[in-house]
Amino acid sequence: MPSSKMDHMISHLQGAFETDRLVFLPIEDEAQVKAFIYREFFLDPVNAGLAGLPGHATLQLCPQERARDMINGYVNGAHMATIICLKSRQESEDPQASADSIYSDDPPKPKLIGQLLLNDKGYSRVSISISIASEHQNKGYGREAINWALEWAFRWGAMNRVDINAASYNERAVMLYQSIGFVEEGIIRKALFMNGEFHNIHEFGILAGEWWALQRAQADSE
Ligand SMILES: CC(C)(COP(=O)(O)OP(=O)(O)OC[C@H]1O[C@@H](n2cnc3c(N)ncnc32)[C@H](O)[C@@H]1OP(=O)(O)O)[C@@H](O)C(=O)NCCC(=O)NCCS
Repeated sequence: MPSSKMDHMISHLQGAFETDRLVFLPIEDEAQVKAFIYREFFLDPVNAGLAGLPGHATLQLCPQERARDMINGYVNGAHMATIICLKSRQESEDPQASADSIYSDDPPKPKLIGQLLLNDKGYSRVSISISIASEHQNKGYGREAINWALEWAFRWGAMNRVDINAASYNERAVMLYQSIGFVEEGIIRKALFMNGEFHNIHEFGILAGEWWALQRAQADSE
């Protein structure tokens, strides 16, 4: 049967909230999700120091109540706030996770591995904040999640540009963002205090036209 415009559209829509290994869910007001975010990204000093959570002017121990308010603040203010989950049944098996609901009664429960926010910057512009839980870092999930966010922003979200920032000492993030195709656009000098000194923040951006050109180049090479 010849493929119609509708088939073409459906084939893209079907994968709009997932990648090969990941599925993205909205961050709901659910205890299990908030506890995961608090444990992995507020109480883990390495992740907190590398990511620089909103409102954390300096590294600090944030009480759960205050963290909940901060999470609610950035989730409510975001253009889109997602929890990153593993898709694979085998990798998702987690007896603890299945004890509570995460938006569905259907087994298996997804395994939460990170959070990704698209923060509204106005004028068809969003910025990405991303954190992956320590045990799942360096397995390509960050790259996969950021590529998904760009796909969403430019294919579905009507965005013109997407920004992302990294502290100068976060060499993994800087390397990753450049290799994805973000262009370094500026440096906010000595804006982040960590480990006894002030550090620069690197600002990156990618435009819709640049992203579509990368997609075409990738399709041509396949
Ligand atoms: C930054 C982060 C989102 C990246 O996600 P991830 O799943 O760990 O990263 P990936 O596995 O997709 O990719 C990491 C890349 O950095 C490379 N890398 C790892 N450590 C590195 C280092 N010290 N210096 C330079 N590159 C490094 C890896 O080789 C990989 O590159 P490759 O894909 O070419 O092999 C995640 O590590 C994280 O949440 N870190 C803590 C919080 C944070 O830094 N958030 C970002 C704030 S800007």
